[in-house]
Amino acid sequence: MPNASAISNSPLIAATVRETQQLVRAQKQAGKRVGLVPTMGALHAGHLSLVKRSQSECDFTVVSIFVNPKQFSPAEDFAKYPRNLEADVAQLAVLGVPLVFAPEASEMYPPGFGTSVELNGLAEPWEGALRPGHFRGVATVVMKLFQIAPADRAYFGRKDYQQALAVRRMVADLNLPIEIVVCPTVRDADGLALSSRNVYLTAEQRQHALVLPRSLQFAREMFDAGERNAAKICEAMRRMITNEPDVQMDYATVADAETLAELNHIETSAVALVAAHVGQTRLIDNELFGPSERN
Ligand code: PAJ
Repeated sequence: MPNASAISNSPLIAATVRETQQLVRAQKQAGKRVGLVPTMGALHAGHLSLVKRSQSECDFTVVSIFVNPKQFSPAEDFAKYPRNLEADVAQLAVLGVPLVFAPEASEMYPPGFGTSVELNGLAEPWEGALRPGHFRGVATVVMKLFQIAPADRAYFGRKDYQQALAVRRMVADLNLPIEIVVCPTVRDADGLALSSRNVYLTAEQRQHALVLPRSLQFAREMFDAGERNAAKICEAMRRMITNEPDVQMDYATVADAETLAELNHIETSAVALVAAHVGQTRLIDNELFGPSERN
């Protein structure tokens, strides 16, 4: 007897822009609501939560899997970024995803490619400052994905808070006919935010990495207890992170949840943002305070 739960339909894997555009346009012409989940693969439960959200709101969900070279600087981990298309497709098959767009870099960036999307403002501080060119790469590929798979909605994770905000900004600035949905961060049982990069961590480094969610939890407790002095919250987070062995803090801040400007005082909403290296692995995390704890 075959195990019914193991039976699943494999998604169609489209490697070309043309095929993907045709398939998505056909769905739209048939009156279907299309959802797009852009990813770089090495799928985990965080990615799958976006897929499930799309499936709950849309008739047809497309997942893109593309490790985008333009968003990595030469010093970063592009070459060793985890890639396992087969395992990714197997996970998407279980969920019943009908279409995966998985192009080669030459399909996305053929010889002569010369256009990019430059985001100012929101893309400048924090990740933008530490990873020059990163958001240009993200915005360019996301803009392309929106043209290749012209969905009604696209799903992003709050885990990459600045990225989600930057994409929303681009959509508003360029009047793109797509709705951005931002989904909550999925964490492991120990509190660490799921990330494709967690596979780089040794067991010991992982223990040290837990200072990031711990510092955010501490910040949350201060906020919930009524603390509105952002500098005090920042200082507490920074003290925790810098005291942790094997962790090099890039930043820990409390910023305006909409503009990402660093705050001295929290009026209504704020976001605590942290980034650090644990060994060679760079991790980011965040926690939202106040009324913008939505979606
Ligand atoms: P990637 O890191 O693969 O993430 C794909 C999407 O999954 C992003 O929207 C990200 O915020 C979300 N995600 C990652 N970890 C998550 C978690 N623990 N909980 C919830 N959502 C999570 O982000 C990118 O790829 C790329 O920059 C991309 C947008 C695909 C452009 O190349």
